[in-house]
Amino acid sequence: MAKNTLSFVCQNCGAAYNRWQGKCESCGEWNTLAEEDATGSVPVSIRSKRKGRTFALESLAGKSPDAPRLSSGMTELDRVTGGGFVRGSVLLVGGDPGIGKSTLLTQATSLMARAGHRIVYISGEEAIAQVRLRAERLGLSDAPVQLAAETSVEDIVSTLSEGAVPRLIVIDSIQTMWTDTVESAPGTVTQVRASAQALIRFAKKTGAAIILVGHVTKDGQIAGPRVVEHMVDAVMSFEGEGSQQFRILRAVKNRFGPTDEIGVFEMTGLGLREVTNPSELFLSERDLGTPGTAVFAGIEGTRPLLVELQALVAPTSLGTPRRAVVGWDPSRLSMVLAVLEAHCGVKLSGHDVYLNVAGGLRIHEPAADLAAAAALVSSLVNAQLPTDAVYFGEISLSGVVRPVAQTPARLKEAAKLGFQRAVLPESARGEASGDAGLTLNAINSLTTLVAEIAARGSRRGDSSAPAEKNATPARFRRGEG
Ligand code: TYD
Ligand code: MG
Repeated sequence: MAKNTLSFVCQNCGAAYNRWQGKCESCGEWNTLAEEDATGSVPVSIRSKRKGRTFALESLAGKSPDAPRLSSGMTELDRVTGGGFVRGSVLLVGGDPGIGKSTLLTQATSLMARAGHRIVYISGEEAIAQVRLRAERLGLSDAPVQLAAETSVEDIVSTLSEGAVPRLIVIDSIQTMWTDTVESAPGTVTQVRASAQALIRFAKKTGAAIILVGHVTKDGQIAGPRVVEHMVDAVMSFEGEGSQQFRILRAVKNRFGPTDEIGVFEMTGLGLREVTNPSELFLSERDLGTPGTAVFAGIEGTRPLLVELQALVAPTSLGTPRRAVVGWDPSRLSMVLAVLEAHCGVKLSGHDVYLNVAGGLRIHEPAADLAAAAALVSSLVNAQLPTDAVYFGEISLSGVVRPVAQTPARLKEAAKLGFQRAVLPESARGEASGDAGLTLNAINSLTTLVAEIAARGSRRGDSSAPAEKNATPARFRRGEG
């Protein structure tokens, strides 16, 4: 009998080594190597005897049955998947524990089952009673979802191969699944990979759509992430701040749809509620009249989204000032700070800088640069920005405000929510002509914006203002010009 080759597999990226080491050279993570059977699933004896079968090669132009989609019955979920679940496709849904993955999928599967489709929900984590309890709480007990608490992939595949092919199968979660073909413990990269492979094979063979639920590690990666991510057709991540009720479903990869759409939900006592107008939600708890806040008119996928950026700039007591960001790219913040410092004469090296995107949203657009800069300067000079203004525009390294896509959609959304003014790139003005009835403040360079905000700061009554604000002119070496 052939000796098994043991090797050390990185549980984060799947790279294999023949010796243990503290750091994975492939992904740079520490302490992620675990001993596994590297030869994978098929014993050597079987592998060497198996003769390859022949298959027919097809032409590109041939007729294939179209990929019909199954609507989930939830508009926000359909938006992210690109219109529903494609037959035979496999989708991975990742998210922190407790974020609401099981809740979302219980709701969606119930709606689809009620619509008359055969839907199977396999729970590897919770007992049937727990799943039923959740369904009861959601008022969905009557939905004809077929339920099981199983973890063996072989058993699941045999069971599901009988009778009509299920239209959709939910596996909650892939980390709890195990297959006989490999010897590693459940939850290891090898098991996750082999189990996912078996399920994907089943989906492709039968045409059933499968949703795999995946856990996310502390640093936001789906455990055994890359190994599963490249095998599935779509990857969605379910995000949100634990303390807040908003939840955002984001497509990270999608072979059958867009990757920039988000679905917005609100967690209530009765499950997840779809939020059809997210801007209203994200602005609902606005701190009107505080310096350091600016409303960004953003776009998520095809949908405009207004969200508040909050900045706090305070003198530091540390040698190296703190820069902390929630909901935005830290390197983008560094860039905006550098441009403010180099081209606008705003000295921030003696200040701690905090930036937060309200409502637990994560912004990926560079168009948020201008709003971030406005919030930062507003906090620094302690001058409130106009509460009826929205900001958008990308800032280049030279301090020029560059145009961004979809100006009319952004303006329209701002007008709809009662905003009166927009601060936007000069070059986008043409696109915005006659739009929405907002007063447009088109600027060409970040210096202009900084000067405007600084002027607001110095116009306010000096006596009532804190010492911080009185120091304004000194901080703007060129800013007032
Ligand atoms: P769950 O779907 O179990 O999370 P996951 O599968 O991602 O681990 O949801 C867990 C949280 O959601 C739990 O803390 C309770 C909360 N919740 C509600 O607030 N309302 C509800 O109706 C339900 C079912 C759960
Ligand atoms: Mg769960």
